[in-house]
Amino acid sequence: MEKITLTVNGKKREITVSPDKILIDFLRDDLHLTGTKQSCDRKGQCGACTVIVNGKAVRSCLRKVVDLEGADIITVEGLGTPENPHLIQEAFVLSGAVQCGFCTPGMIMSTKVLLDKNPNPGLADIKKALARNLCRCTGYTKIVDAVQLAARFIRGETTPDEVRAAIPEKMMGASHPRPTAMLKACGLIKFSADYYFDNALEIACAHAFEYYAKIKSIDISEALKMPGVAGIITADDIKGTNCLRQIVPDRPLLVEDVVRSYGDPVAIVAAETREQARAAAAAVKIELERLEPMMTIGEALAPDAPQLHHWAPNLISVTPQIVGDAEKALAESEYAIEAEFSTQVNHQAPLEPEVTVCYLEGEGNDAELVIIGRSINIHPQAREVAEAVGWDTEKTRYIEAYAGGQFGQKSAIITEALAGAACVHFRRPVRYVPSLAESLFLSPKRHPYNMRMKMGADKNGRITGLWADMYINKGAYFLVGPITVNRTLHMLSSAYRIPNVWASCKLVYSNNAAGAAARGAGPPQSNFGVESMIDMLAEKVGMDPLKFRKLNSLKPGEPRSTGATVSQWEFPEICDLIEPHWERAKRDAAAFNEKGGKLRRGVGIGVHAFGIGAAGDKGHVEVEVNPDDTVNIYAAIADPGEGNDAMLTQITAHILGIPQEKVCLHTRDTGKTVAMGPAAGSRMTYVGGGSLQLAVEQLAGAMDEAGGKTYGALKKAGKPTRYVGEKKIKGGAWDPKTGQGDSFESIVHNIQMAEIEVDMESGEVKVLKMTTAIDAGPLINPQAVEGQLEGGMDQGIGFSLREEYIHGKTLDWKTFKFPTIEMMPEVEILFQQTPRPNGTLGATGVGEMTMISTAPAITNAIYNACGVRINHLPATPDKVKKGMDA
Ligand code: FES
Repeated sequence: MEKITLTVNGKKREITVSPDKILIDFLRDDLHLTGTKQSCDRKGQCGACTVIVNGKAVRSCLRKVVDLEGADIITVEGLGTPENPHLIQEAFVLSGAVQCGFCTPGMIMSTKVLLDKNPNPGLADIKKALARNLCRCTGYTKIVDAVQLAARFIRGETTPDEVRAAIPEKMMGASHPRPTAMLKACGLIKFSADYYFDNALEIACAHAFEYYAKIKSIDISEALKMPGVAGIITADDIKGTNCLRQIVPDRPLLVEDVVRSYGDPVAIVAAETREQARAAAAAVKIELERLEPMMTIGEALAPDAPQLHHWAPNLISVTPQIVGDAEKALAESEYAIEAEFSTQVNHQAPLEPEVTVCYLEGEGNDAELVIIGRSINIHPQAREVAEAVGWDTEKTRYIEAYAGGQFGQKSAIITEALAGAACVHFRRPVRYVPSLAESLFLSPKRHPYNMRMKMGADKNGRITGLWADMYINKGAYFLVGPITVNRTLHMLSSAYRIPNVWASCKLVYSNNAAGAAARGAGPPQSNFGVESMIDMLAEKVGMDPLKFRKLNSLKPGEPRSTGATVSQWEFPEICDLIEPHWERAKRDAAAFNEKGGKLRRGVGIGVHAFGIGAAGDKGHVEVEVNPDDTVNIYAAIADPGEGNDAMLTQITAHILGIPQEKVCLHTRDTGKTVAMGPAAGSRMTYVGGGSLQLAVEQLAGAMDEAGGKTYGALKKAGKPTRYVGEKKIKGGAWDPKTGQGDSFESIVHNIQMAEIEVDMESGEVKVLKMTTAIDAGPLINPQAVEGQLEGGMDQGIGFSLREEYIHGKTLDWKTFKFPTIEMMPEVEILFQQTPRPNGTLGATGVGEMTMISTAPAITNAIYNACGVRINHLPATPDKVKKGMDA
């Protein structure tokens, strides 16, 4: 141990530390300054742990405390408080740069160092200063805005009060800062890993590092003797089903016989410290008999392939969509094309890795098992944990901590059940903070697709038919099961009138990473194929790609390929909205290319009509007036960063005509809410917000009748103070032979336009500008909507050009190729706001929209630039180069 003296946030400290103590551990674990976050495995890849040491931005995961004798350290907590924030914190909040908020403290600290040196930075300076700070939510656009605004504050050109004064007072269509943004900017919001308990055990798992294997033996004897170890659990020790059952019970919590996926957990080690638990987990000896893994669809469907699960063959299901006669229509078409496409395994990549903490509240078997984690669907996931670990479902409670993004990843869980099993076994609070590498191989991914498609058009350029044979690699576990299949088919015909469709979605088990929801969940993959085909067909017909799309738009009164007839269809109008930009971009690219040289520019578009409010979906929200006249909202509406908190408060304040500060959210606790499904599928504004609207309108009606907006007025008039709203989407069963039936109730329309540059020597593609035209109904909070669109585009660019998760090999952000601020293109957003008849105050949802159309917009632009059609994502330089060489 060594004695040193240093200053943290202005307070001098004399401390005794071990020579190995890392600064981030000292700040978080010893001082509980938890605003400093950790995402990567201490490799300096994420920047979430950035603090200021002696005036320099330092990644605290890379510095030993013993090297900091006399250092002056500032963390985000030392910069400002919600009552007295620093100008940079104000700028981040007012610019809408805080979504999940996990990257925010690190971003703010890097910004402080930049602006201390250079209060008038250009875009290049900002990108350089923040090059090592990752963000998954914002697409970096609003972070750049925030840095520029902070610089203006610091230069004295404007003030936070002036910026606030410019925000309209109205609640609909005004960009009010999100309710939790300032707490996040000050590092005071609690994410799961920020919960510490006295007497808590830290756990780590021993994993089986094979893709497919039989377990021959598990030897925990050496590990049990290691320092600090409180005990080790294997499958035999689990009192419950030891199986996670989201739909089908096919994923063991702890494997007892067959390993089906890389990193399947085999034992849980509990110890006094995380380092001790990890060391002992590494000492658990697992003897495996390796089996030949089936990673691809071809391998899993080979005639001699072993059956992975007993309940279903590897070809789990074949789901059709059939309307008209596609084969005949294609045979009779004037123009016909055919192509194959594939998409990669992709990771949702929330910046916060998996974390769960658990504790028992109460005594003995009557105690309540409390789980604190990153859930987006607290009620069923609490039930799933209880069943797996053997605890009474009625005595299991889930509290949703603030989460550093999720993007569909948390549609499935596992760390909750691992921590829950240890908590129940050891009867002590448990913290499970896995490494990023573990988090990557344990959590579900975006399914990879293999697709073969045919499309035809008549002599006038009207689409005659679509034929699509799609194979979805499910990976090792069923998780959300057929949801991706259903979404793929129900959004397949996109914005278009396609009278003849034959489509088939085949879901296939393999030993690859298990797939679940991922921003868009299905359509980003299938729409890549469809929009590539549309561009190819437009070229064959000899029409401009935008005009071809508009010509083939569905019209009100016509059916989608699901058979559902639409009553309104805004797509032609957004074609008109983007047309001048399309024409300008084509001219710009042509002018640039005329100059010659190794860089060539191209323009491409991608389109989607995204469904929200699935048939049969429903929500449940309750509102209640308190004796102090504040209004409580009770709703299991998760907000891992997309802005549902602002949506709920602004809708309530708008309808009731009260300040939003009077609205109190109770949305994160199973003990206070009833189930209402996941914060996924962009459904929360439409379904959750719609349920809220129904509840609040009843309350507003009662207030009108009572002649006052107070608790006292309601009581005096004999009116209830609590109201329930349930929005239900009409829905029946689909015809199993044709897939025809009720579908999504609401449609979001979007066109993405990509302007890109290809290096003709290296094949490298740079996205220069993304323009999006969108109609999602009236905007509730424009800044929050823009944030969703910008973040979706950024993820779409990553999906299209670089990101790929290789199971067992992608173990950090570098190998995943996480997009950085340096890749951020210019972004322009064009809104059209057509009210939806059943929308929430006319609005629908937008969370996933731009993720879907961005990839084909980029690959179509690559084709436009250099004549290389990329049919297999991601469009890496080697693929583009190979295409050019060919
Ligand atoms: Fe940056 Fe979520 S706001 S990671």
